[in-house]
Amino acid sequence: MRNWSGIHTSEDARNIAKRRLPWMVFDYFDGAAGAGHGDLLNQQAIRDMRLQTRVLVDVEKRNIGKSILGIDAKVPFGISPMGMCNLACPGADLMLARYAAKYNIPHGASTAASTSLERIGKEANGHAWFQLYFGGNQEVSDSLLDRAEAAGYETLIFTVDVPEVGRRPRELRHGFKMPFKIGPRQFIDFALHPHWSISSLIAGAPTLANFDNNGAFDRTASRAGVNWDFLDRIRQRWKGKLVVKGVLHEGDAKQLVAHGVDAIQVSSHGGRQLESVAEPIHALARIRTALGDDFPLIYDSGLRTGEDICKAYAMGADFVMLGRPLLFAMAAGGEKGLHQLCDVLSQEVSIALAQMGLNDISQVDSSVLL
Ligand SMILES: Cc1cc2nc3c(=O)[nH]c(=O)nc-3n(C[C@H](O)[C@H](O)[C@H](O)COP(=O)(O)O)c2cc1C
Repeated sequence: MRNWSGIHTSEDARNIAKRRLPWMVFDYFDGAAGAGHGDLLNQQAIRDMRLQTRVLVDVEKRNIGKSILGIDAKVPFGISPMGMCNLACPGADLMLARYAAKYNIPHGASTAASTSLERIGKEANGHAWFQLYFGGNQEVSDSLLDRAEAAGYETLIFTVDVPEVGRRPRELRHGFKMPFKIGPRQFIDFALHPHWSISSLIAGAPTLANFDNNGAFDRTASRAGVNWDFLDRIRQRWKGKLVVKGVLHEGDAKQLVAHGVDAIQVSSHGGRQLESVAEPIHALARIRTALGDDFPLIYDSGLRTGEDICKAYAMGADFVMLGRPLLFAMAAGGEKGLHQLCDVLSQEVSIALAQMGLNDISQVDSSVLL
């Protein structure tokens, strides 16, 4: 594919997105807990890991496809659930869904999505996994699960690392709220980013589309009462596969296995919850050791390049999910931007495999780390 969009790395996508998006939206996407050190330290920890090269291996044929929970993905990454993706550009949720359908990869459809779970499910053609946030109201979460089941979802991601929403000062400074509250500061912000503002005006301001009335879901609500009994209730209710997302402790991981979950997503929520969080990439290795080789582990947080993706596999992931880079790619170049970045990441993985003397991403294990 011709690289018309200027996206040669995920950092390129971020830089273009930074120019195009209103400050409020860029800081909602890019922000993390506190001053963002937790997020940056994890990215640094991944960057600091070294891969071992090997020579004179025939690596002409290389496979970057990976299987997870019965899916044969054609690329070695999926789409982590993210709320309000249509803030990147109109139609972003469905761009992700189409990409998931084309490449056979999981697409986390968030409770806080800006497109209904039914529309995402249809467009993703069976590849969407519904992500549940418990919003404090049992009836609301029961009805979301009923809808997900009726829409044919087979896998549920239950996110458990948001007992309270992390303090993200970059969001707070801009007064980021759903639905938008437009004061003088936001007005200036939108006026200075006319391309985004006009296209969003024409398409209609993004809303929390899983709820008739934006007010039925408060993304900042406390979920502090959610406990193991609640998990058991979900496990009994949801007949499909259950992934629990946001786990960083080996003891929690072992308990989750005992409670019958099908997979664990090791994640720090991209550093958005606790600034002093231990690097999730290291938690991944500890949890892999604690659970042994066979239990399905998915990883997200801080992956920015194909080499990063290989490192997560080397640390014990069975599959990885991406967050912010996909939003930035769509903000930078719409659907073409998304495909461009995903092609770049796929090429980076393939080239890293060649350098490591491997023919298949499934061969990546701890032996490639120095
Ligand atoms: C803008 C934004 C919205 C998010 N919304 C959700 C969400 O609704 N549910 C959820 O489980 N995780 C959510 N996440 C966290 C992602 O699923 C993922 O854990 C994180 O973005 C991965 O880190 P990365 O952005 O460094 O790749 C969100 C992340 C971002 C950046």
